[in-house]
Amino acid sequence: MMGNIAVAIDGPAGSGKSTVAKIIAKDLNLIYIDTGAMYRSVALYCIRKGADTEKEEEVIKYLPEINLDIVLEKGIQKIFIDGEDITEKIRTQEVGKGASDVGAIEKVREKMVQLQRKLSEGASVIMDGRDIGTNVLPDAQVKIYLNAGVEERAKRRCGELEDIGAEYDFESVKKQIEERDYNDMHRKFNPLMKADDAVEIDTTSLTIDEVCSKIKEIIKEKTDLR
Ligand code: DC
Repeated sequence: MMGNIAVAIDGPAGSGKSTVAKIIAKDLNLIYIDTGAMYRSVALYCIRKGADTEKEEEVIKYLPEINLDIVLEKGIQKIFIDGEDITEKIRTQEVGKGASDVGAIEKVREKMVQLQRKLSEGASVIMDGRDIGTNVLPDAQVKIYLNAGVEERAKRRCGELEDIGAEYDFESVKKQIEERDYNDMHRKFNPLMKADDAVEIDTTSLTIDEVCSKIKEIIKEKTDLR
């Protein structure tokens, strides 16, 4: 018998993390924790206050008053600020860019990581983000680093934007993804990188099903979950 298990999934924007994590969570009865949503929520709050997310002192000023609640509804993570459901409102390009900005700030990361570790206590989880295997859950039994070519990732992001009826332009989406990756990989605190003990999967030419199968195979090897 094994106790609670943790599956960490890291990788750049659009590599398929949240899509596959949600499916695997459902199939294996794990709690899915989307850490990007937390950074996005901080960004949304600051944007609404008129703060410049690139300016550390402006973000830090608001950080203590941000009242985030993460609730699981039928296995789906919902996120609230001061009781308002902002789950859908954080899915814009502007908020994604703001999330990458605020994610570079040490104090923001401390608060988010604390929240993430608390959410994973006493539960079997699959958590996706940028620093899960390297920093948030260094003892996770399973660590996956998902990757994909930038063209493919931009296509996927455009698909998501289309789904929610948002306006987009392929070239600008691609450029934003490149900038976001650069920002996430080069920040001083817990940058995006593959953990030494993570398994890297390139999803460029794989279907969602294929990626899920590969990950489930790895989970099977490393834990007693079936
Ligand atoms: O996964 P996402 O696109 O929702 O993440 C948005 C941004 O949040 C990402 O570009 C960087 C930041 N982030 C982070 O710094 N650390 C995490 N664990 C997750 C997200």
